[in-house]
Order: sequence, then structure tokens, then C-alpha cells
Amino acid sequence: KGLKLYDPGYLNTAPVRSTISYIDGDEGILRYRGYPIEELAQKSTYMEVAYLIILCLYTILFMKTFFVKFISFIRLIHVSVVYGNLPSENQLLDWEFAVSQHSAVPQGVLDIIHSMPHDAHPMGVLVNAMSALSVHHPDANPALRGLDVYNSKQVRDKQIARIIGKITTIAAAIYLRMAGRPPVLPSNQLSYTENFLYMLDSLGNRSYKPNPRLSRALDIIFILHAEHEMNCSTSAVRHLASSGVDVYTAVAGAVGALYGPLHGGANEAVLKMLSEIGTVDKIPEFIEGVKAKKRKLSGFGHRVYKNYDPRAKVLKRLAEEVFSIVGRDPLIEVAVALEKVALSDEFFIRRKLYPNVDFYSGLIYRAMGFPPEYFTILFAIPRMAGYLAHWRESLDDPDTKIMRPQQVYVGEWLRHYAPIKERT
Ligand code: CMC
Repeated sequence: KGLKLYDPGYLNTAPVRSTISYIDGDEGILRYRGYPIEELAQKSTYMEVAYLIILCLYTILFMKTFFVKFISFIRLIHVSVVYGNLPSENQLLDWEFAVSQHSAVPQGVLDIIHSMPHDAHPMGVLVNAMSALSVHHPDANPALRGLDVYNSKQVRDKQIARIIGKITTIAAAIYLRMAGRPPVLPSNQLSYTENFLYMLDSLGNRSYKPNPRLSRALDIIFILHAEHEMNCSTSAVRHLASSGVDVYTAVAGAVGALYGPLHGGANEAVLKMLSEIGTVDKIPEFIEGVKAKKRKLSGFGHRVYKNYDPRAKVLKRLAEEVFSIVGRDPLIEVAVALEKVALSDEFFIRRKLYPNVDFYSGLIYRAMGFPPEYFTILFAIPRMAGYLAHWRESLDDPDTKIMRPQQVYVGEWLRHYAPIKERT
């Protein structure tokens, strides 16, 4: 009945073409629209990078003609040239203004956050908050307004600014609820990352200014997490959006995927693991357990990187910078020694297992005062840029089809119904 290629985990399947980011897993290279991640982390800001990844100067309307289908690949390249550039000064100002104008969150969404059990996992709350945005913004819902809403540049750009603008306010509301503190309104006098830290720490004091070095460190972390091609949650966005569902529901699905300990939840798992190990002398015993397959080494290994994750290199250095401001976390000694042992052990060498982005990020978050269960939220905030870029790119690509993988059926071939008393 037709040849189907059995491909668990889509190891060998590329269902999309993209111009957003490029990874060479063997060489440990990551580029956003051609820019090396190290250069962006050093010189750029998260707002600039989000613009680079997502924004468009104009949207070419989707035309269902044979001609457009024929030149769709050329068009995709053209689209990237038109869209995927660093902003000019004025473009950046407009973008930052649009984002700050959309930072308020509907009261109904805040009520949902506050209705959750006090000890709910922040990522579980975030999934609910993102999907609640869907019903609060029906103007962007193709199920209610028809697919044409997505062909309008205004509608698309508005959803992009809304999600980037609201995600920090939602994340802050989740944090303040966990901490038992009253909500704080966003400030449009501060940069994106400063405003986020302001909402968390100011206790409503309008003259509060976050430590500029810590806010820069968090901005760099946001740059490093902004985009990573077809990872589990980004492919979830594309998967959901391919059905024509609204972008909030698609992003809520992605946040659900990010929650998992094999994906974004790994940063929380790393901290738990380092705390469990506790001291350097316990590392050999722990490594033996990993080699005996009793557990995984969290923050190690990657589907694509078979070399050192370039983001982990930047984070390792950044950890020292953050420690120089807030004090050294003793668990860094455990992390560095654990990395050294693993990288010289045949088990890890043969499998090409190196530290990934989650290995050092948790230590930085902890040093900055975040509780472990909040770490994945700090991954979700910047990854909104990647989700939205892929959402927009999928809408622009005439080859986009509803995602519908096949299966290889290995069950019973044909059976006949037996009445309940005759079953053995
Ligand atoms: N610790 C111990 N063994 C591992 C690890 C690990 N962290 N990762 C992979 N392996 C082993 C695995 O058991 C397998 O061994 P064998 O060949 O004997 O069966 C081999 O290495 C290949 O692993 P795999 O599971 O086929 O690799 P994958 O590409 O399917 O999985 C991964 C990638 C990230 C899910 C996996 O490496 C893992 O579970 N790592 C720990 C969790 C983690 O740090 N996740 C964050 C990933 S990066 C950021 C993100 O995506 O959010």
C-alpha cells in the first residue's frame, strides 16, 4: 500500500524550508539569518535580534497560482532578503514602541493565572495563559474570521507585537503570583529586558532600575535562546499552525512541548541534578549511574549538535560575569568538573555528547535569584521570536501543507467481532 519510510523522531525528515537560522551540528555553528550567534550575543540586543528573526517590511499576499508555486523557492530566498535584516534606527524605534504598546495583558488572562493552585508549575500556567490569549483576541482567529485574516500584514504584525509585548508581562505575573507579591504594571520607559526585571523586582516602585550588568546578561541569554530551527516546540508551532489555527493556540502548544524535561525543561533538571550530586567527589558515582543507563546527564547531548553547543560556550563565560556581580555559586565547581569528566569518558566521546544550552543557563538563573521551576519560563520568553518567525514563514510559503505524517502500521491485520461471552 505504498512505501512509507519509518523515521522515528523525524531524524531524516525535513518537512520545511527555512531562511531563519542555520545550524552545523558537527562544527558547532549557529547563525540567525546568516549572523553568527557569538557576534549577536556580543554586539546586539534581544529586541534587534527579534526584529532580525521575525519582522517583515511588507507581506507579499499569498497567491495560489501555478507560477508562484513554481518560483516559490526563489521567493522564499527573496522574502528573506526583504525581511530578515537588522533594523535601521527608526525601524528599531518603531518596533520597540509597538512591542511596548502591546505589553498590557487582558484582565481575564491575569485572572486565569491567579486562579491556578499556588504551587502550580509556572510552565503549566504559561500554557493556559497563552491559550487564553486566543479567546481574548478573536480578531486574529481564522476559525472565526476565515483564513484571510492571515493574509493581512496588519493582522500578522499586530499578533507578533502582541505576543512579544505580552509574554514578559505574563511571565512576570506568574512569578509575582508564585512569590505572593502584588502585580506590577509594565514600564515603557525601560528596555525590554529591563522592564521584565523591573516587573519582577521593583515592588511597584516606579523609580526602581534593575542592575544594568544583570539586565545585559539576561538580554544575552534571551539572544541565545531566541531561535533554533525545527526543535520540538518550534516544529509544534508549525504543526499546529498548518491546520490554520490562531497563532496563540499554536504558541500555547509549543510552550507545552518546551515544558518537557528533554527540551526546555532540561535547565531545571540540570540544577536538580547538580544539587543532587552536591560535591565534586560524588561525580564518579553519578557518571557510573549514567553509563549504566540509570539516568541521563541533563544538559548534555543534542539531536543536532555533535560538538560543543556554541550557546553553551557563551553561557559558560557569562556565568562567570554574573557570579562577579552576585557572588559565586558553589555548584559551578560541580558543573565544570562534571563536564570535564564526561568529555574525557569513552561513553560520552563515542556518542558525541557535549554540554548543550541548558547546562550552564540554570546556574546563571539561580545566581540571579530565580527558583528552578521558573527557569523554563526564561527560555520560553525569548523563544517567542523563533516561534513567530516560523509561524510567519510558514504562512508565506506557498508549499505549506497541513502537517500529517504517516505511520507504519504493525497491528493485527483483520479480525472479526466476537460477542463478549465468547471471548477468551
Ligand atoms: N546522558 C546520557 N546518555 C545520553 C544523553 C545524556 N544526556 N543524551 C543521549 N544519550 C545517549 C542515549 O542513551 C543513546 O545511547 P545509545 O546509543 O547507547 O542508545 C545515545 O546517547 C544517542 O542518544 P539519543 O537519545 O538517540 O539522542 P537524541 O538525539 O534522540 O536525543 C536529547 C537528544 C537532547 C533528547 C538527548 O541528548 C537528551 O535526552 N539529553 C538530556 C536532556 C537535555 O539536556 N535536553 C536539552 C536539549 S538542548 C535544548 C532544548 O532542546 O531544549
